[in-house]
Amino acid sequence: MRVLVLGGDGFCGWPTALHLSASGWDVTVVDNLSRRNIDNELEIQSLTPIRTMGERIRAWKEISGREIGFVNLTLGQEFERLVALIRDLAPDSVVHFAEQRAAPYSMKSARHKLYTVDNNINATHHLLAAIVESGLDVHLAHLGTMGVYGYGTAGLRIPEGYLKVTVDTDNGPSEQEILFPPNPGSIYHMTKTQDALLFQFYARNDSLRITDLHQGIVWGAQTAETRLDERLINRFDYDGDYGTVLNRFLMQAAVGYPLTVHGTGGQMRAFIHIQDTVRCVELALKNPPRRGERVKILNQMTESRRVRDLAQMVADMTGAEVRNLPNPRQEADENELIVANDQFRQLGLKPITLAEGLMQDVTEIARRYADRADLSRVPCVSAWNQCRAEALETSGTVTEPSHPASLRA
Ligand SMILES: NC(=O)c1ccc[n+]([C@@H]2O[C@H](COP(=O)([O-])OP(=O)(O)OC[C@H]3O[C@@H](n4cnc5c(N)ncnc54)[C@H](O)[C@@H]3O)[C@@H](O)[C@H]2O)c1
Repeated sequence: MRVLVLGGDGFCGWPTALHLSASGWDVTVVDNLSRRNIDNELEIQSLTPIRTMGERIRAWKEISGREIGFVNLTLGQEFERLVALIRDLAPDSVVHFAEQRAAPYSMKSARHKLYTVDNNINATHHLLAAIVESGLDVHLAHLGTMGVYGYGTAGLRIPEGYLKVTVDTDNGPSEQEILFPPNPGSIYHMTKTQDALLFQFYARNDSLRITDLHQGIVWGAQTAETRLDERLINRFDYDGDYGTVLNRFLMQAAVGYPLTVHGTGGQMRAFIHIQDTVRCVELALKNPPRRGERVKILNQMTESRRVRDLAQMVADMTGAEVRNLPNPRQEADENELIVANDQFRQLGLKPITLAEGLMQDVTEIARRYADRADLSRVPCVSAWNQCRAEALETSGTVTEPSHPASLRA
């Protein structure tokens, strides 16, 4: 079975490429290394010393005897090359991770908003159009986000993509299923809701087989394969733009930095360990929708937690101090979140929970590479609007110096 892993140099993509290769898939990574360029732009590096793509692939060959191909291609810009690649390799499946994925980065300035929309929506649309153009029956699995549902569900158990509604018709009430109403909280999340519409259209119009995985916030750093050799190590983001909340807390605890809780910390979010991410992607690839079926949507998360409870859990484990800071995001202080994830459970996923052992694993990684940390990059300085920027400034948190408030508003 052949698979293209688009965005396969990234935090989720690289361990997925290794996992699929280890499981016998013939893997080609497609990536334009834009994430590494964003590190240059932000003057930050992964906490872990990630190797070049060439070294990663050579190390994997040495260790496993298996080849992973690599194509440097920009999705959304190089359409003819993309069609040729799909025709040449004739993959059974494509996994699409290749988008700008940080909400704070997408809200830094007008330029970052424009980039995120252009990059993400064009990447997804070129891919869909290219699959149709290739004439091949390729299953597309895309990484979406739980954030498309928003965080204001009034106690509703969030279903997997579709909402049952009753509409009034001339013949009385009629039950229907519609795409869950999108409620994005950032420009980045908004691009994912647009992706969902593109998928709905192409599944209906061209009978493309599409799976959209609405993933929770990923925590952890290593998987069974990335642990095999230091040259295979996964990236670990801890900065205010790209670091994800639990990994940031674990890193902060490891280097003695107070845990940065935004607002009351009453935000409830869905989580998944990186090892479960790679397992879920393989399960999704092995269980594609049939041709002509609607988009298959799965909630790829394993547990929901409140941010302040996570901070407390890490503080209890490590003795770290917790610090409440103004929230740069325009979002509710407190919300409930109950999520259905029955499909992955039925497919056999045995979720990794926030067990202390695994959190210890991440803390050890953070400790090992603590000397690479630039603590000045820990605060979140990307404010969602003028009001949030002013609250940050009043509290003494430095906001984006190069972007006037008028562009942020
Ligand atoms: N990390 C998380 O917690 C998380 C949570 C939910 C969903 N997701 C989704 O999973 C996907 C992967 O996330 P990640 O954390 O691995 O992000 P990442 O930024 O580490 O990886 C994305 C990769 O895609 C590449 N890329 C971006 N745009 C491209 C383009 N136009 N052409 C070619 N390559 C391009 C980047 O160079 C990078 O290597 C994203 O779509 C994200 O929305 C991630």
